[in-house]
Amino acid sequence: MLHNLSKNSSVINHYLAEIRDAKKQTDRLHFRNNMMRCGEMIAYELSKTLKYKSAAVETPLGVANSEVLDQSIVVASILRAGLPFHQGFLNVFDFADNAFISAYRKHHKDGTFEIDLQYLTCPPLEDRVLILCDAMLATGASIQKTLQNLESYGKPSKVHIATIIASVDGIKFVRRFYPKAVIWACAVDEELTARSYIVPGLGDAGDLSFGEKLQE
Ligand code: URA
Repeated sequence: MLHNLSKNSSVINHYLAEIRDAKKQTDRLHFRNNMMRCGEMIAYELSKTLKYKSAAVETPLGVANSEVLDQSIVVASILRAGLPFHQGFLNVFDFADNAFISAYRKHHKDGTFEIDLQYLTCPPLEDRVLILCDAMLATGASIQKTLQNLESYGKPSKVHIATIIASVDGIKFVRRFYPKAVIWACAVDEELTARSYIVPGLGDAGDLSFGEKLQE
């Protein structure tokens, strides 16, 4: 299932317009803040699909019949572009456990690339809700590699994949190898460049958040 949040008019589209705007991207603090806010908005929408149980909460004046989450959540992020986005999820699911994965594109001279996964830290995933955050779902290759590597940590009860901008091809790819995952995107763009950047996209989310890296 795909939830494309830009289909409805909401403030997410305003944040997204700023995130994409080349003139506004120079303000790194604002860029990261908008990435974080997109994370918060998706997390809130996603929270409506989770399971809750009744709880009687004692207030200073009486007892409030309340609802609390009845599922355990793990928020996983692909470094480094996903960090501000990850923080948005944690602002909403502050009680979640966390996983971090470093997956980066190792480019070959012929323009192709492979995903190099160097670091992974993850709590047990058995029967828990896994929210995998990848700021840009371009080809889906990092998500595939990550989910393969997370398999040894247990079988989640549900897998959500959250992204700010997804490409049409990336969504198709993820759906092919992980049809049960629920995909959440703030926007879906049509094209990919020869180097697998999303068009119109926003550019390099990691560089815009944290500064340009030294090219290999
Ligand atoms: N990663 C990015 O930061 N941007 C893209 O367009 C694709 C992958």
